[in-house]
Amino acid sequence: MFRRACPSRHLIQVTVDAETVNVEAGDTVAAALLALGKDACRTTPVTGSPRGPYCMMGVCFDCLVRIDGKANQQGCMVLVKPGMRIELQHGANALVDVLSAGRVRGTSPGNC
Ligand code: FES
Repeated sequence: MFRRACPSRHLIQVTVDAETVNVEAGDTVAAALLALGKDACRTTPVTGSPRGPYCMMGVCFDCLVRIDGKANQQGCMVLVKPGMRIELQHGANALVDVLSAGRVRGTSPGNC
């Protein structure tokens, strides 16, 4: 669906769901995933519907991914780095990390 306007110049290696891939240095994680043909970064916790980057500027939160083991990172706001581990998020599992760490105000694992 997406095609680069200019050819790639400097590729680096990252892993996406444990698969080693080459991405363009300077791309955001969301842009790199789109360039790889991965339109959906996550699935919703309730219905499992696929969601993919939409705004590319940190507003819609449809680009949430796990980066280097840390869940709920906005892929459009993080630049790729060599060796980065990117994982697509699926359903409610991604919320467990946030709730158990108490990072969401007023929540705890007992409130799930
Ligand atoms: S694409 Fe909208 S917040 Fe990242």
